[in-house]
Amino acid sequence: MDDIKQVTHVTNIRLEDDLKSVVIIDQTLLPNRLEYISLANAEEMYDAIYTLKIRGAPAIGIFAGYCMFVLAGKISGEGEAFLAEFRRLKEYLNSSRPTAVNLSWALGRMERVAEANIKKPKAELLAALEKECRAIHSEDIEMCRAISEYGLSLLKDGDGVLTHCNAGPLATSRYGTGQGPLLLGREKGMNFKVFADETRPLLQGARLTSFELSRAGLDVTLICDNMASIVMKNGWVQACMVGCDRVAANGDVANKIGTSGVAILAKHYGIPFYVLGPSSTIDMSCKTGADIKIELRPPEEIKTKWYAQPMAPEGVKCYNPSFDVTDNSLITAIITEKGICRAPYGKSLAALFG
Ligand code: MRU
Repeated sequence: MDDIKQVTHVTNIRLEDDLKSVVIIDQTLLPNRLEYISLANAEEMYDAIYTLKIRGAPAIGIFAGYCMFVLAGKISGEGEAFLAEFRRLKEYLNSSRPTAVNLSWALGRMERVAEANIKKPKAELLAALEKECRAIHSEDIEMCRAISEYGLSLLKDGDGVLTHCNAGPLATSRYGTGQGPLLLGREKGMNFKVFADETRPLLQGARLTSFELSRAGLDVTLICDNMASIVMKNGWVQACMVGCDRVAANGDVANKIGTSGVAILAKHYGIPFYVLGPSSTIDMSCKTGADIKIELRPPEEIKTKWYAQPMAPEGVKCYNPSFDVTDNSLITAIITEKGICRAPYGKSLAALFG
């Protein structure tokens, strides 16, 4: 991955040629090693999502679609027995991470295709499932491209852009969402001064965003999360752009922990704060951010991970929410593949997704 095309066209998720496993880039090894792993059973697939070998809301959805197809090929029963086992596996994968709606969205699509084709011969049922999981992937490629075009229309060449977590090609497909406009702009010969929050505790900004964007030839500066205020105060940031894991019908947005703090700072300094995401991340059944389940993760991610020695006393209590909700009043616009939504979000989101 050492030029723009290689970054924006990386194959981060695919079916193995024999259709018996799903191949992904193990994101936990980046930026030091670019390694592909092959996952053939439900336990390995669950583990890959839970441990963030595959991560980023759209990528989790794409992966889950492929997983259900591979697992369906290994179910021996037919008819109701097949559906019962298919649903059990679907619920199992769905329980791996609760916040990104793309997971249940993609699993739901696969389940509906299984139900609609259950009376057909097994080969036809499997062909329908394969078609659906490939469609989930190719639709995401189209959506990311459109989101990137809309997002780019909000930037000027040379702008300083602060981003949080990773919403680039690894987290999606091709250009990404939150980082898509930057990559697309670079491809068109523009440049930006990007500030990438390192994104504690799992360092997606340091390990993945700064890796992808610098490989694409963008001017990237990595900062610790608590440095966002000073770079904004210095006048170095003209826009913030982030991805999202679930957008409620009123425009409240769940995204990586720390996002709401960035939005509050941006409001203070009068900097536009943009959220970018595909329709698969918009959950019109979720009224407000208060209805979004926030994933809690183990204390080791704060206390011991990344350190040669523990960096906190052994028994100390930790609170490790993986996401937070940004209030819609802090968001300048939500950029989707169907267009740019602005406040009042209840109306603008319903007009495109109602
Ligand atoms: O815990 P992660 O790394 O899966 O969290 C990812 C994020 O919060 C991303 O910003 C979000 O999924 C948008 S990805 C296009």
